[in-house]
Parts: sequence; structure tokens; C-alpha cells
Amino acid sequence: IRVGVIFGGKSGEHEVSILSGQSILKALDPEKYIAVPIGITRRGEWVVGAEAAQVLQEAAQIQLGGPPEPSSIDAGADRDAAVGQPGAGPHAVPASQPGETALTLVPPALVESFDVVIPVLHGPNGEDGTIQGMLELFDIPYVGAGVLASAVGMDKVFMKKLFASAGLPQAAYTFYTRKTWESDPEAVLADVEAKLGYPCFVKPANMGSSVGISKAKNRTGLTAAFKLAAKYDRKIIVEEGLNVREVEVAVLGNDEPKASVPGEIVPSNEFYDYNAKYVTGDSALIIPAPLPPDVTEEVRRLAVEAYRAVDCTGLARMDFFVERETDRVLVNEINTMPGFTRFSMYPKLWEATGVSYAELIDQLIQLAIE
Ligand code: ADP
Ligand code: DAL
Ligand code: MG
Repeated sequence: IRVGVIFGGKSGEHEVSILSGQSILKALDPEKYIAVPIGITRRGEWVVGAEAAQVLQEAAQIQLGGPPEPSSIDAGADRDAAVGQPGAGPHAVPASQPGETALTLVPPALVESFDVVIPVLHGPNGEDGTIQGMLELFDIPYVGAGVLASAVGMDKVFMKKLFASAGLPQAAYTFYTRKTWESDPEAVLADVEAKLGYPCFVKPANMGSSVGISKAKNRTGLTAAFKLAAKYDRKIIVEEGLNVREVEVAVLGNDEPKASVPGEIVPSNEFYDYNAKYVTGDSALIIPAPLPPDVTEEVRRLAVEAYRAVDCTGLARMDFFVERETDRVLVNEINTMPGFTRFSMYPKLWEATGVSYAELIDQLIQLAIE
């Protein structure tokens, strides 16, 4: 089976994706699979062969030193601007820059010759239905959620709307466009204070790895939080700040999705921000999560319900909040291409449930081609 593993990408989660891709490439059994690494550079060029290896090698030097600057990534903020420009599409020829080495672009014929593709891309342009749509057009089976579930899972506003319509419990929220914020900040601040109060969480609607997210405790913090989120996206979501434990469940399957045992995250910072996720390395993953049996059952049940609510297939990591005082379970979010290094929560949850890393990849490939 010829497997293309696509990693990197233009999003703020480029580095994380390289680490996930590298782990998957290493784990693909050469007796069963011909694995072909396909890198996407930060600028969005597709590279194979030696250049892909070079992108992968970045992984050895990757030091996740803090969240990426919005100017260096192509989040929703810049998506509209990119349309129609040279270099915007996967096969487009980038405008050549003096002094830059030419990069190999992946020709459609090569992409078409895969039996299955694993797009190990996180964030906008990878986990949001765009690459999934391209693979659909080429008629290539791919691992993970389809176009709709990927797109919905990436947009926290639409994700919440679908969760709400399925009757799933979640934090109170509201959202604004960047334009609304910029045209009358005072009105937006007053609206948040009236609807949610403090503390609250301000997030770019389309992102991951906590990039662009702040916890606001007062008006000054809220103003700064909006300014930051608006750099990453044209849509900004604000949620009531909860006093919670964070619990995650791995879900795997198409029509009959299965839930793993839950795991708990104990962030090393005040909340599970980018540094707590990748930089300091001392956030704890506790598997299985030490929860009362009825709460464990509740999160596993809600994990499958929320997965179905967005019509997800393949895999997803379902993230929950469990309120400290009441043990009330709230859905936080779905991640349709969760972090996939050997040390990431998703594969570790399956390992604890009896599915090894290599077996998990086999199952994901089966689910993609069945
Ligand atoms: P991302 O998609 O970037 O992972 P999340 O919505 O999961 O974004 O938020 C990142 C982290 O911020 C969470 O893991 C949690 O630590 C904190 N957080 C987010 N929303 C809330 C909330 N409503 N109440 C308390 N903590 C929150
Ligand atoms: N978005 C990161 C990769 C995760 O959810 O694991
Ligand atoms: Mg999250």
C-alpha cells in the first residue's frame, strides 16, 4: 500500500505537524507500506524527496519556543487575501524570489498515485476541510474526517452551534467579527461584560494549539485579548471562564465510533496555553483520568455523541471540561487531526485502551479505504 504522509503546512501549528508526521513515518511498517513523505513548507510549497526530508529534519532542530507570530502564518486572517494570488494553490508555481532555492512541487500525477494519504496537518489549511477537498477531487482515500466535519471542527463557532443543536452541554459563548471589534471596541467590551463577565476566554475562531487565546480577567486584559485574537482570525469567540479539570477522549471509527478511556491534562500554566502544551514540557497527562466511574462513562458517551454531532469519521480527540465543584461535564471541542507524536494524548489514550501506535495507524488506514 502506497501511503503519502503530508506534514508541515502554512498554519501556526507547522512545527507540531512535523513532529506528528515524523512519528507516523517512523511507525509505518515497511513490510506493509511504501511510505512517501510530502512536506508543505511554511510558505505553502509542496515538497517531496530530498526537500521533504529536509523539512522533516527541521524536526530535529525544532525548539517550540512559544506561539508563532500571526504575521508568519496563514490563518483565516489571510485566507481571503491569498485567493487568486500566484502560489496560493497546492500546484501553483510560487513567484520566484531572488536568492531562493527552487523547491519541488508535487505534481498531480504523483498525488494521484497514492492508495491512501495521511494528512497529518493541524490547523487552518490542513485540518479544516481544504486539503480534504483537494484529495476528494483527486479521488484519493485519506485518513481522517471528511470536508464537512473538518471544516466544522476547525470553526469553534459552528462547532458549538452543532453541539448545541445536538443538546450537548457546553460553556456559554458569544462571537464577533474583527470588523465589529475594530469599529466599536467599547460596545464589544460592554457586550462581553454583560453577557459573560470575567474571567472569560478570547479565541480566534479558527486555530489550534491555543495559538492566539487569552484568559481575560478585567477590561484591560479583555482589550489586549481581542487585539491578539483579531491578528489571527476575522472571527473571534469569547467564552465564560470555567473552573474546571480538562479531560480528553480518543474516538476512532466511521459509522460505529469507539471511545477510548479518558485522560486528564494537568496544565503547567494557569491554563493549557501554547507554552504549557509544547514548551515547558511539564504539563501532566494522567491516563486513565482519575474520575468517578459515572463521570468516566458520561465523558465517553458524550465523546461519541459530539463526534456524531459533526458527522465525524476516521478519528478525533474530543476535549472536555469537568467542573471542579459539581463534576458537571461540558464539551470543549473536537480536534479532527489531533497531535500524533508517540507522546501525544490521542495515541496514548488508545495504547491505554489496548491499541498500539502501529495498530492504530493500520486501523486508520483501513477506515480510510473501507
Ligand atoms: P485550542 O483549539 O487552541 O486547543 P481550546 O478552546 O481548547 O483551544 O482552549 C485552549 C485551552 O484554554 C483549554 O485547553 C483550556 O486550558 C483553556 N480554556 C479554553 N476555554 C476555556 C473556558 N471556557 N474555561 C476555562 N478554560 C478554558
Ligand atoms: N491542535 C493540536 C495539534 C491538538 O489538538 O493536539
Ligand atoms: Mg484544545
